Amino acid sequence: MCGIVGYTGLDQAKDILVDGLKRLEYRGYDSAGVALEATDGAGDPRIDVVRRVGKVAGLESELVGVDSAATCGIGHTRWATHGRPSVANAHPHVSCDGRIALVHNGIIENFAELREALVRRGHTFMSDTDTEVFAHLIEEAYDGRPADAATGEPARPGCHDLMGAVREACTHVVGAYGLAVVCADEPGVIAVARKDSPIIIGRGERGSYVASDVIAVIDATRDVVVLEDGQFARLTREGITYTDAEGNAIEPAVTHIDWDIDMAEKGGYPDFMLKEICEQPRVVRDTLVGRMTGGELDIDELGLTMEELNLIDRVYVIACGTSYHAGLIAKNLIEMWARIPCEVEAASEFRYRNPIITPSTLVVAVSQSGETADTLAAIRDARIKGAKVFGITNVVGSPVARESDGVIYTKANKEIAVASTKSFIGQVVSLTLLALLLAQVKGKLTTGQVRLLFSELGNTAEQIQWILDTQEEAIHEAALACKDAHSALFVGRGMGAAIANEGALKLKEISYLHAEAYAAGEMKHGPIALIDRDFPVIAIATKSPVYDKTVSNLKECEARGAKIIVVATEGDEDIHKIADHVIYIPPVRDAFSAITATVPLQLLAREVALMRGCDVDQPRNLAKSVTVE
Ligand code: AGP
Repeated sequence: MCGIVGYTGLDQAKDILVDGLKRLEYRGYDSAGVALEATDGAGDPRIDVVRRVGKVAGLESELVGVDSAATCGIGHTRWATHGRPSVANAHPHVSCDGRIALVHNGIIENFAELREALVRRGHTFMSDTDTEVFAHLIEEAYDGRPADAATGEPARPGCHDLMGAVREACTHVVGAYGLAVVCADEPGVIAVARKDSPIIIGRGERGSYVASDVIAVIDATRDVVVLEDGQFARLTREGITYTDAEGNAIEPAVTHIDWDIDMAEKGGYPDFMLKEICEQPRVVRDTLVGRMTGGELDIDELGLTMEELNLIDRVYVIACGTSYHAGLIAKNLIEMWARIPCEVEAASEFRYRNPIITPSTLVVAVSQSGETADTLAAIRDARIKGAKVFGITNVVGSPVARESDGVIYTKANKEIAVASTKSFIGQVVSLTLLALLLAQVKGKLTTGQVRLLFSELGNTAEQIQWILDTQEEAIHEAALACKDAHSALFVGRGMGAAIANEGALKLKEISYLHAEAYAAGEMKHGPIALIDRDFPVIAIATKSPVYDKTVSNLKECEARGAKIIVVATEGDEDIHKIADHVIYIPPVRDAFSAITATVPLQLLAREVALMRGCDVDQPRNLAKSVTVE
């Protein structure tokens, strides 16, 4: 949820930290701050902390006036969980004596009791955050702990070793943390800890780096360590040492990052969202590369034998948000082709139900970030209950990838805009491959049929390109018709109903315009009462077996004065009879229509958001990775 970054090396830390925070801003942008090493008038080391409410740009402006020669520091960009966005609640947080400063991503579940005990022992808290307990716990472990009269615990001596103090503090904490800590008494050292919150460590030619995401360090190195739960790292200018919870030296595996920093820049586009929408033809192509070898579908990362796959008799797709909508598409495909019952469930619901899971249940966990807390909890629960779990994620080495029996990586590459676009397309293409494989293994589709479908799937790359090249004007006109609405309804049938959900979510999250998705046939059971001229109905009515039925439902809306915008199939001229605005997609098999028909809805949402003066890359109240419940 939050982004953390740290640097110790030969160069000035301030700019490196700000640059890293800008790249991590997709993780949260309520407030931001840095802690930099400094010296006082007598030349003694101290830690200076600068914090600002709002985006990293505000912090950057404030830091212009700060003359810092520090070559070691830590930074943070926050998405508020405990405590509203304010300077006091912004990270870094410091110990009572200000000599220890830290940044944290995660949630400390037992913070209330820890805080109470710390206050009893004389600590003063400056914020409402859960994180601050860590600063005081580390302070006690470092300097020594006073006796606690309430519990009868005697005083304890300090260990005067930052890494040791961090390790000790972690033993008291229940919850999730990615933590980077500096101490005025150990210049040039950053102590790092991780549990259930992403931390990557990198060593470049000019120093050592820690961050929540590789994107913050990729300029310096492509070889990173993805810290595991219970592992610790001590970064210095000279190098990095890794230890386990007992302090034993370990040598974690190094992961090579094969994507480029250009992929994380806007590359001439006005915003990341548009850039990422325009990358979608490439995402389709890359996700399919190597998936058909010698005329056979090839998904060898599955982690399941063909025999095991053949035994699958129930599929659950678990995911959140946009990834959940990709699951809705998958349900249609898996049931249509493989004839296996498939349920799609929000991970946040699945984890607290008692779903029917047997050893022949396949759970497919879909997550762009691979670190969504609810999805991870659902994976763990499903595995305990005996299901095989298959992950579909965009982030190599992410928790979803590591905790699943097998994984397909969507080849979207880094997605920066908070609203998911290209990763959705990568997910749908990957789920389509999975559905084809299940159908083939179950003998429901022949190898020849699978090959034909695979080749048509590949054609969607050019079809998306056609939409990007030709529909700009139509989308602009449709956006003008929506921008002043108080609410909008997205409707469709079959695949169209699933796509409608994603269209409504995109509009809501970036334009702050209320939108709802409804199965078109359900309109007359209630929502049609909402319709008036200020209430646009956005329909997915592409040529499909339910086209005529959808058109009938739209006529019902038209008769009640709705403003109708339709995503239709190129060549469908009749649709103009009921539609105020038509956006075309090329003719496509219904099974693949989600891959193309979603694209105009992404563009429409962006256009409406821009017309309403919204920030399309960083919508209010949101963060890209939701690592809390
Ligand atoms: C999509 O536009 C959203 N920002 C959000 O719904 C997202 O899809 C959801 O939080 C799930 O994230 P994940 O795919 O990283 O698990």
